[in-house]
Amino acid sequence: MKMRFLAHFVALILFPCWFVSVRAEEIKSPQPCDFKALFNFGDSNSDTGCMASAFYPEILPYGETFFHEPVGRASDGRLIIDFIAQHLGFPFLSAYIDSIGTSYRHGANFAAGSSTIMRQNRTVFQGGTPFTFEIQVAQFNQFKNRTAKFFNQEKENSFTKDIPRPEDYAKAIYTFDIGQNDIAAVISQSGMEYSHAVISEIVDNFTSQVQYLHELGARTFWIHNTGPIGCLPVAMPVHNAKNQSLVAGYLDLNGCVNYQNDMAREFNKKLKNTVVKLRSHYPDASLIYVDMFSAKYELISNANKEGFVDPSKICCGYHENGHHVYCSNRAIINGKEIVPGSCDDPSKYISWDGVHYTEAANYWIANRIVNGSFSDPPLSIAQSCHA
Ligand SMILES: *[C@@H]1O[C@H](CO)[C@@H](O)[C@H](O)[C@H]1NC(C)=O
Ligand SMILES: *[C@@H]1O[C@H](CO)[C@@H](O)[C@H](O)[C@H]1NC(C)=O
Ligand SMILES: *[C@@H]1O[C@H](CO)[C@@H](O)[C@H](O)[C@H]1NC(C)=O
Ligand SMILES: *[C@@H]1O[C@H](CO)[C@@H](O)[C@H](O)[C@H]1NC(C)=O
Ligand SMILES: *[C@@H]1O[C@H](CO)[C@@H](O)[C@H](O)[C@H]1NC(C)=O
Repeated sequence: MKMRFLAHFVALILFPCWFVSVRAEEIKSPQPCDFKALFNFGDSNSDTGCMASAFYPEILPYGETFFHEPVGRASDGRLIIDFIAQHLGFPFLSAYIDSIGTSYRHGANFAAGSSTIMRQNRTVFQGGTPFTFEIQVAQFNQFKNRTAKFFNQEKENSFTKDIPRPEDYAKAIYTFDIGQNDIAAVISQSGMEYSHAVISEIVDNFTSQVQYLHELGARTFWIHNTGPIGCLPVAMPVHNAKNQSLVAGYLDLNGCVNYQNDMAREFNKKLKNTVVKLRSHYPDASLIYVDMFSAKYELISNANKEGFVDPSKICCGYHENGHHVYCSNRAIINGKEIVPGSCDDPSKYISWDGVHYTEAANYWIANRIVNGSFSDPPLSIAQSCHA
């Protein structure tokens, strides 16, 4: 890129008119990057089967819309990472620890539901995670290291057809969508007075792992910021105790919980700062900051206009009067058995299960972000190696 700009600058001196049109075009569309693989890190927003392989599989109606069976995704269908994979011409990503019917030829997914950047002092059964960001990066390191061995052996072997070539790692795109569960923990655990320090520490830990990935050879980083957590329907008072006396300003115009979104905004501001700093430390790398918060918030703010029902509505789950029965669970409430099934038309809902988005919403969001309209710098994902 930089070379090309220089070339056009020279052209300006020689052929001023020619320059104007060509240069404008060049800025808008540098060459697509020809990525050889896609490696993803994150939480349930992009888990394509880790938690379901490691612990218990999901049951229907998860997966009902696109896959017609549960496939380890927290949605009725495809996730944003699935649409990204499709957009880049890759097959859907297999979860790194999934042992059945998987291929890693074009990358691997290390994302796991409930993952956090920071270690949490909770077991899996208390909503904690063994698969922190640090562990996901350690898994990537092991994956890269151990698969490389197969190319160093003299004999061809059948295993190499399902793993990336050693030279693919530098030409891969590394995508990130993590932090939401750290913010959730800040909201539920820390007093507000500690949140600034905690959020800084979370972002610092994120930064160290990105630096480590760079050391391991990663060069293109596509980093989603965290979404409007206060707009998750389960956070909204309408799905909690009915008659809370809410202080003025507790909710925004969309019914989202302001102070929770403010925590996400603070995380995002610090995340963006760190991405900008990393960019200047690593001139050989391309780091794109993607404003997922704004993309999701735009959908939520324009739900009806975009063909969706009210954004507080949940397609699958029972969340009333402070009782929460999550999608595909069951419970007895006031002597009555509650087994929440899914809504008639998930494609009209933004929220699938109160926490995760429907395939229809994921599609809408993915469509907005892949062309770079929420990216800094404003490059499409196909061109994201040029930042
Ligand atoms: C986070 O960073 C702190 C120091 O800032 C370090 O002590 C801790 O081990 C890190 N934790 C994780 C999970 O990376
Ligand atoms: C972790 O939780 C245990 C049990 O709840 C508690 O005793 C311990 O002090 C906690 N540790 C930290 C570092 O918060
Ligand atoms: C894999 O890790 C081992 C042990 O840390 C190291 O000696 C070796 O050089 C690594 N191999 C590659 C291909 O990175
Ligand atoms: C809501 O709670 C307040 C205070 O507890 C009470 O005064 C009010 O009557 C309640 N409103 C309804 C509609 O129940
Ligand atoms: C990106 O795509 C969205 C949705 O199709 C469209 O509204 C937007 O104008 C596009 N932006 C750019 C910069 O191409």
